[in-house]
Amino acid sequence: MAHNETGRDPTPGMRFSPVLMARLEALAAFTEVEGQLTRRYLSPAHVAAVGQVEAWMAEAGMSVHTDPLVSAFGRYEGRTPGAPAIMLGSHIDTIVDAGRYDGNLGVLAAIAVVAELSARGERLEHAIEVAAFGEEEGSRFPAHILTSSALIGAAGPALLDIRDADGITVREALTRAGGNPDAYGDCARRKGEIAAYLELHIEQGPILDTQGLALGAVTAINGSVRTMVSVAGFAGHAGTVPMGQRRDALAAASEMILCVERIGASEAHLVATVGRITALPGAQNVIPGRVAFTIDMRGPSDPVRDHAHAALVTALKEIARRRRVEVTIDAYQRNAATALHPLVIDVVAEAITACGQQPLRLPSGAGHDAGIMAGHCPSGMIFLRCKAGISHNPAESITMEDADLGVRVLLEAARRLDRRLG
Ligand code: GLV
Ligand code: MN
Ligand code: MN
Repeated sequence: MAHNETGRDPTPGMRFSPVLMARLEALAAFTEVEGQLTRRYLSPAHVAAVGQVEAWMAEAGMSVHTDPLVSAFGRYEGRTPGAPAIMLGSHIDTIVDAGRYDGNLGVLAAIAVVAELSARGERLEHAIEVAAFGEEEGSRFPAHILTSSALIGAAGPALLDIRDADGITVREALTRAGGNPDAYGDCARRKGEIAAYLELHIEQGPILDTQGLALGAVTAINGSVRTMVSVAGFAGHAGTVPMGQRRDALAAASEMILCVERIGASEAHLVATVGRITALPGAQNVIPGRVAFTIDMRGPSDPVRDHAHAALVTALKEIARRRRVEVTIDAYQRNAATALHPLVIDVVAEAITACGQQPLRLPSGAGHDAGIMAGHCPSGMIFLRCKAGISHNPAESITMEDADLGVRVLLEAARRLDRRLG
């Protein structure tokens, strides 16, 4: 496993990371696209990954079940069978052309924690439940963090009618993937069944790496608003229509996108991104008649973000009016900024210290299942340094040493939470 050609162990003292890193590598092979990691919710690659993750859960001593929305859960009983659980986990769906650590690290590290408890014959007061959420990224359907939302009972039936870019509904995709759309309500857990939620995740930003620290205790998760903008102009001949007479939807969208950038930069800690755009009919010699693009706007303050979003809507309408195109703006998902639980933040910081590291308390710019779970039970996160803060990019990278520390801190935090939750 962790031996090089000389036969010497290249990772002395590392109890967890040789297996963990090998499994992260193996899981990255579950992809929709050869040569890159793309594993969107309910794709055949996702369904196959669920099977692999559940096999690792069972091997670690857990009883396993897949919920109606195809999230995987493993349960390791505490001293008293049926006790409330401390849930550890993250998501196993990915963006298109992903790195291998976003989400997957938190799930496989949680399995490593249970494998260690199981190998020691150690039972806590609480059960440990490991969650491999199916949908966090929003990379297939125009809505995100669906599966943890269903777990806390915050997903309504409209969820089933959302369509992906090929027109396939969540209902149809679930049926093909072996899920059970009509039972989505059964994903919801009773209050008290989960005593706390803790997620280990790469930071996805540069703060830990810049400060030379391996781990951080996350204090809060930024809020977001996701918006779809459609621009309708008039398609025409690229060679004949004089410039002054055009209603070019793509030229209008271009001005709008620069406006998104300007307003995103207008407030400290606010960010705004246009990540996807389509222009139709998409021919070299045709003036584009229809354009659609997404806006992802985030920040730590909901009022500041909402004010900026309202200003953006006004500005986009003004550009549309001046350029004689029609614009429709659909802010289809808002997630409030969320403070994580003080007890869990403290426990994480203490666990980092107990493992010989300096804990930095920091907020998260990225969205996470923990932000949803915080509406249901005391929730927290451990951030792990990633190289140069690079994420949502196949170049995501973590070290063996940090991965090992991540499991040790997750285990330590679970044991401490077990005592502190009473
Ligand atoms: C998830 O990675 C998100 O923050 O968009
Ligand atoms: Mn993630
Ligand atoms: Mn992500």
